[in-house]
Amino acid sequence: MIRLNEHFTKLKASYLFADIAKRVNAYVAVNPAKPVIRLGIGDVTEPLPPVCIAALHAATEEMANRATFRGYGPEQGYAFLREAIAQHDFAALGTKIEPDEVFVSDGSKCDIANIQEIFAADTRLAIPDPVYPVYVDTNVMAGRTGMNRDGRYDGIIYLDSTVANGYVPAPPKEAADLIYLCFPNNPTGAVATRAQLAAWVAYARQHSAIILYDAAYESYVRTPGIPRSIYEIEGARDVAIEFRSFSKLAGFTGLRCAYTVVPKTLQARDAAGHQQAVHALWHRWHTTKFNGVAYPVQKAAAAVYTPEGQKQTRALTDFYLGNAKLIREAMTKLGLSCIGGDNAPYIWVNVRRDSWEFFDLLLNRAQVVITPGAGFGRCGEGHIRISAFNTHENVTAALTRIATAVM
Ligand code: MLT
Repeated sequence: MIRLNEHFTKLKASYLFADIAKRVNAYVAVNPAKPVIRLGIGDVTEPLPPVCIAALHAATEEMANRATFRGYGPEQGYAFLREAIAQHDFAALGTKIEPDEVFVSDGSKCDIANIQEIFAADTRLAIPDPVYPVYVDTNVMAGRTGMNRDGRYDGIIYLDSTVANGYVPAPPKEAADLIYLCFPNNPTGAVATRAQLAAWVAYARQHSAIILYDAAYESYVRTPGIPRSIYEIEGARDVAIEFRSFSKLAGFTGLRCAYTVVPKTLQARDAAGHQQAVHALWHRWHTTKFNGVAYPVQKAAAAVYTPEGQKQTRALTDFYLGNAKLIREAMTKLGLSCIGGDNAPYIWVNVRRDSWEFFDLLLNRAQVVITPGAGFGRCGEGHIRISAFNTHENVTAALTRIATAVM
């Protein structure tokens, strides 16, 4: 009989957010009269910005007419969107990214999951803890790790993010080839300073490593001087791939659009020791495995870059940051220390007790769903993540319920 990929057996039975959804659904099935408020998975609640809706309608009309109908588009995305991205997200920051270095996709989760395929099986990984589980799980599936022992996989250099380092890990002493970084951070909400990112870029250059920089939450940065892109750091073009998303910027979690930047100056070594452009390989990946994002969705994404779109998306992210501020204040009032929430939609709360136990307590006593820190890694134990993605009314009600439940 055909054999399975044994590496899958090293994984925890289910994906973190699927696990949580299962527990919540079981609770709801037994307690149908108790409405649950979800501040767990970071899923947006507010409708799409009006400019995006208008663009979707207009593009749908185009698809309804023979003269303007479109079939397959370019796998890497339409030029109108790639050009808008290069200009507004990078040139405006003083960084130089060419439109053809931008690969439009249907989500950062998929891009971050897929990109590891272009690197060798014995690539040495450095991954933060706590971490968005996709970085680890996809490398486990690919066979780049050993077994899981006590919550950690053999073969990964874990970068502890703790209260001691302000939840921003410094480069390790050991050499790694592929480094995963995420700022503003999921799950902690921490942001990295220019100096901290510069240290990572220097490390990557020293070790000829590549940084996979997840910037899905960059639109929440408000503190002046905090980098929004790794390419703001001198030399990063030679060592970093950046992932961005329209999900949390413009409410696209259900519409699906994101992009990955692979600079043409980024090189990796082949088995014979020759340098190859990573861009060419990712281009090959895209053309082989992807047929592009729907035209109306790309039009909606491009609308984000119009003056109206910029105003509307700013209002949207400000709205969620308003929720984040309330969450932070409420946790502080309960005597719990926390970070995040000022430049990020997540608040990382040090609850000083077992995080799954705290999850159960809040679900059972308050009917509020949060994410237990242990689900993001060993260093997440003792913490919970609260998401600011919900309506103002739900966040306010959840905070009142949490206060009552933990008093
Ligand atoms: C999260 O809650 O961590 C995110 O919503 C997950 C995701 O973006 O895939």
